[in-house]
Amino acid sequence: MKMMQIDIVVGRADQQATEVLVLTHCEGEGVNKQDGAFLDKALGGALRELLQSKEFEGKPGELLLYHTHGKVPARRLLLVGIGKKKDLTLDGIRQAMGYAVKRVRQVKAMSFSVLVPSVTPKGHTPVEIAQAMVEGAVLGSYQFTAYRSDGNGTKDIARLTLVAAQKAQVRPLAEGVRRGSAAAEAACFVRDLCNHPSNVMTPTRIANEAKAIAKDESLTIKILEQKEMEQLGMGALLGVARGSHEPPKFIILEYNGAKKKDERPVVLVGKTITFDTGGISLKPAENMEHMKADMTGGAEVLASVRAAARLKLPLRLISILPVAENMPGGRAMKPGDIVKTLSGKTVEVQNTDAEGRLILADALAYAQRYQPAALIDIATLTGACVVALGQFAIGMFGTDGKLKDQVRKSGLRAGERVWEMPLWDEYFEQLRSDVADMRNIGGRGGGMITAALFLSKFAGEGPWVHIDIASTDWSERERAYIPKGPSGIGTRLLIQYLIDRSL
Ligand code: BES
Ligand code: MN
Ligand code: ZN
Repeated sequence: MKMMQIDIVVGRADQQATEVLVLTHCEGEGVNKQDGAFLDKALGGALRELLQSKEFEGKPGELLLYHTHGKVPARRLLLVGIGKKKDLTLDGIRQAMGYAVKRVRQVKAMSFSVLVPSVTPKGHTPVEIAQAMVEGAVLGSYQFTAYRSDGNGTKDIARLTLVAAQKAQVRPLAEGVRRGSAAAEAACFVRDLCNHPSNVMTPTRIANEAKAIAKDESLTIKILEQKEMEQLGMGALLGVARGSHEPPKFIILEYNGAKKKDERPVVLVGKTITFDTGGISLKPAENMEHMKADMTGGAEVLASVRAAARLKLPLRLISILPVAENMPGGRAMKPGDIVKTLSGKTVEVQNTDAEGRLILADALAYAQRYQPAALIDIATLTGACVVALGQFAIGMFGTDGKLKDQVRKSGLRAGERVWEMPLWDEYFEQLRSDVADMRNIGGRGGGMITAALFLSKFAGEGPWVHIDIASTDWSERERAYIPKGPSGIGTRLLIQYLIDRSL
């Protein structure tokens, strides 16, 4: 996907020359005193008429396209509803932009302009408004056409212009555009990686993607091959990879934008299973193709380190990707096998489909060498997360109140909300093994919790948060700015956390 070019201009609505001029409108309000009034006058009262007749009310996601027939320089006006003023949220703006951009594409326009809304959601800054606008537009226009032989799907929109009423708005808006572009581009990159099928997006290909990013952004990169993993003793990751012909990879990327170069880093760890068949504990056939996206966590930490570098955030950041394919080959791990993890702890693998926690156990143990100021892992970890939270909340666990609060806040800002679950030690009795230090499944109840508790045994003593994105990682239907299929949700949560933490 080519990123759309985004500009900011200062000016009046009735003077914008553009293919489509987008105007947000709050439900139940009259013609807006500033922009609306100028436009309405130029259009001979058409705007007022549309509102008075209730042909357009301004309900969330409602759209009305109006041809101006040369009465103003904008060829078309697109009204998009953002609901009642008092209920307006940042995500409401993001969604409105998602709906609008799709309508713009339907009319085959290659560029469009949007008036920066004069009503703002409570407690949010102009920087955040612009960021949300850009995110909605970019995420909403995402399409994956890499394998379509009938041309390239619908053409990408080339340009978006934000129209500000006053000159003083330009600086904050520009900062919002910068953040929004970086975050949305990162999420689209994650969607791409997850959309590519597993016969293309192999562990080796992921390593190549990471190398290309490291080169482009001048990051430090280290990739451990199987041999080195054996020497280190990463028995859990190697156990998962055994059933596949694809060699595993262990990728470490470092971006250092900190003033004090030896500052303790933020370390992100992402589950990167390029395909999860379940292994010998084979999954049912139905929907198994979704498991090409079992690498979402890894793709997200990769995209995040790239975004941090592009935004030149003043922090030290390390992203770790344990990468493998979970297959039931002739040498595959079998239920009952015992592996020795990098930490020295042994695990009885009672179910080879609980592979995410195994590769993460070694990655979390490896992360300890950096003495992280904050350690965050993100993973499509459990079906139980889907059962517990449905599609709209991300599961969160952690040992540090402050870190959890920060993640919660950043999630709210990003419109990717987390919900905390308990990490109580009582649940550990479900993980006891008769023959090893623990087993890799926790039995019937609380599957998301026992998975998190398993990870906690490898996460060290410092501030740690675990994020289970199995609930949100794949969207069953198209939404305002989320396509059907891989959603990339979690990417902007991580990037927002990095922004909020460092600025
Ligand atoms: N990758 C899956 C979890 C998953 C399920 C992600 C649905 C996205 C959508 C994970 O590796 C898995 O298979 N977990 C098992 C664990 C069980 C065997 C304890 C599960 O949740 O069924
Ligand atoms: Mn699995
Ligand atoms: Zn998995």
